[in-house]
Amino acid sequence: MEKILVLDFGGQYNLLIARRVREHRVYAEVRSYRDVTATTVIEEGYKGIIFTGGPNSVYDANSPKCDKKILELGLPVLGICYGAQLMAWLLGGEVASAGDSGEYGKVSFSHTGDALFDGVPGDSVCWMSHTDSIVKLPEGFKATARTEHCPVAAVSNGKNLYAVQFHPEVTHTKYGKKILANFLFGVCGCKGDWDMTDFARSSIEKYRREFKGKKALCALSGGVDSSVAAVLIHKAIGSDLTCVFVDHGLLRKDEGDSVEHTFRELFDMKLVRVNAANEFLDKLKGVTEPEKKRKIIGEEFIRVFEREARKIGKVDYLVQGTIYPDVVESGSGDAGTIKSHHNVGGLPDVVDFEGITEPLRYLFKDEVRAVGRALGIPDELVDRQPFPGPGLAIRIVGEVTEEKLSVLREADAIFREEIASAGLSERPDQYFAVLTDCRTVGVKGDARTYGYTLALRAVSTDDFMTADWSRIPYDLIARASNRITNEVRGISRVVYDVTSKPPATVEWE
Ligand code: XMP
Repeated sequence: MEKILVLDFGGQYNLLIARRVREHRVYAEVRSYRDVTATTVIEEGYKGIIFTGGPNSVYDANSPKCDKKILELGLPVLGICYGAQLMAWLLGGEVASAGDSGEYGKVSFSHTGDALFDGVPGDSVCWMSHTDSIVKLPEGFKATARTEHCPVAAVSNGKNLYAVQFHPEVTHTKYGKKILANFLFGVCGCKGDWDMTDFARSSIEKYRREFKGKKALCALSGGVDSSVAAVLIHKAIGSDLTCVFVDHGLLRKDEGDSVEHTFRELFDMKLVRVNAANEFLDKLKGVTEPEKKRKIIGEEFIRVFEREARKIGKVDYLVQGTIYPDVVESGSGDAGTIKSHHNVGGLPDVVDFEGITEPLRYLFKDEVRAVGRALGIPDELVDRQPFPGPGLAIRIVGEVTEEKLSVLREADAIFREEIASAGLSERPDQYFAVLTDCRTVGVKGDARTYGYTLALRAVSTDDFMTADWSRIPYDLIARASNRITNEVRGISRVVYDVTSKPPATVEWE
């Protein structure tokens, strides 16, 4: 499989670089500069390397620097921003701060033409974000592009080493996609015949080799990420993988059974379902404060998982469904810090494992879904909307009780059914019901009722960091409201949440 190494120097767009390469159907792997030497590069058989940007100056004592020998292998290398400066500096060029004349945002540039700019108009627009720039070229290099304030906006040695001060991975660089394609196909000679099926196949082969004779354990939530990770490892090592599915009793209608059915029947997996609803409900008794609920559920989850893991006996690896956005949210690409930020954070500290495996840690959500499809996971699971770890407990305002859970489950299922059957051209990214602790008066069959107020929530979002409330059709809200008040006992009123994030959050608690 053709592979491009994205050598990570800490830049904010690094995740995008890998994604852009994969969009050209060439596999890209992000690795920290600390973990890679020239020997690694040869052993792994990379077709080319991209040095990413980064926040440092090459002259900072602690700035990230890679093995210079990587540049002497004769392999194609593309340096981007800090990566461009590092390449020049390692090869004897000079870099200096541009002081006040640093460039940020869209900037016009012109190039003099070389393999990187094949098919790119002589004058175009790029996205810049730098204070330092290359001021003296290494021997054998020439400048191939310039902007008003940056005479060295691109350099090359005309053979295998290329560098750009701007960011081709950002869409504001109008021909960025073309420039990356030129590097991948023109310079590295890639064919571009990779897809997520290849990723699935090669990962299975890799884990089959690496995990031979080893036992692995996976905490399965039924969400997309842990499901895809579990199926992938299961295809590699079969019954040497045990999945533990902790059913905390806070799942949606029929969710626990559906997760169990999918993994036990469809994939014939060794699955331990732990029905711990009573334990969780006991711990949540009388608790109304949202943060306290979350903490209790997180703690309890770890305790139950730990207990079950011990019953299974010695396991070598813990499989986690960490994906790239989780890595980014953890604030760095360092493996050490990732663990505690994952959904099941804390597990590795309390259970004795030899190692942690995160087979999806370089992928984005849509890529994970594509791997899931390639592995034969049903669409209804692969296309699932996100569901929070603390489950319905943070969708019930106030104390969580068995009775409220049952009311909310029914109402939520109706709302989801109505959305599914509405034939919307664009479905909201997340939609659910919330049981408020506000009771109101209603009238049914001439008699007074006094029941809960249920809120419906639907949001559109790219990244869940910000979200807008979805303008779903009134008729859809009307149908859902009508059915819920008729079919679910205990609800006397339905409202629709018209608050964006910020100022609200997606979940009510
Ligand atoms: P908020 O409410 O923070 O939600 O705007 C943003 C997204 O995160 C999900 N969410 C969680 N997911 N564990 C999770 O795995 C959690 O504790 C959690 N809390 C919120 C939420 O459903 C939405 O998609």
